[in-house]
Amino acid sequence: MKALAVTLASAALVVVGAGIAPAQDANPEPPSAADTAKGLQEWERIYAVFSHPRCANCHVEDDHPRWSGPEFATTRVHGFNVQRGLDGSGMGNAGLRCNTCHFETNSSVPHGPPGNEKWQLAPVEMVWFGKSSEQICAQIKDPQRNGGRSLEKVAKHVHEDELVGWGWDPGPGREPAPGSAEETFLAIQRWVAAGAPCP
Ligand code: HEC
Ligand code: HEC
Repeated sequence: MKALAVTLASAALVVVGAGIAPAQDANPEPPSAADTAKGLQEWERIYAVFSHPRCANCHVEDDHPRWSGPEFATTRVHGFNVQRGLDGSGMGNAGLRCNTCHFETNSSVPHGPPGNEKWQLAPVEMVWFGKSSEQICAQIKDPQRNGGRSLEKVAKHVHEDELVGWGWDPGPGREPAPGSAEETFLAIQRWVAAGAPCP
């Protein structure tokens, strides 16, 4: 009889616990339609940056970085058969590492190699080149594919990382990515506050 009383008491606790659980949930309400619409507007700003050649040319699926500039009718595969290393390294193969040609700063002549001390391809799972807005959005939100980052950390990376920052200071003859690192950081924060909707 005593055992039954204890069981009943703990069952009651479970019920009480279940009753208060939703109130403790940080985000119980689904975002309103107005929030979603605002979030999608912010996403368009973010997408314009991530899909821009200054960003997408290193975030490729087929291990070949891309070149593009005003003189090229279309973006094309990087010359010299440059590609990801056989060991998966974003720095390329031994003998033709990125930093053979890409130095710490931009070359000052048009068509000279742009520069940054971390210059290398993005990891294979971070693919934007040739991907739709929906696909890029899903990738950025997926910790399995974004380097294990929360969206706050993705925003911070855009704000602070020097390789990302290169996209707004790409050297002579190259159009910078739209806006600035600061504006993109703020747009990501507003997008997250609106529930981070994807198209
Ligand atoms: C020279 C090649 C290169 C260029 C150009 C480049 N990236 Fe990347 N990107 C990388 C590498 C390498 C990583 C992996 C770094 C890490 O995870 O710490 C990365 C990772 C990221 C990440 C974190 C992972 C993710 O999927 O969320 C973001 C965000 C990002 N880049 C944004 C940008 C933006 C925005 C631009 C343009 C303004 C840009 N990148 C241009 C190479 C590049
Ligand atoms: C043999 C020299 C050489 C090597 C090695 C090399 N690059 Fe380049 N890269 C260049 C030159 C030169 C340009 C400028 C081309 C132009 O603007 O016409 C360039 C441009 C680029 C661009 C274009 C930037 C843009 O947005 O238009 C990317 C991306 C790039 N390289 C990535 C890489 C990566 C990643 C590696 C290593 C895996 C690498 N490169 C290795 C010479 C090289």
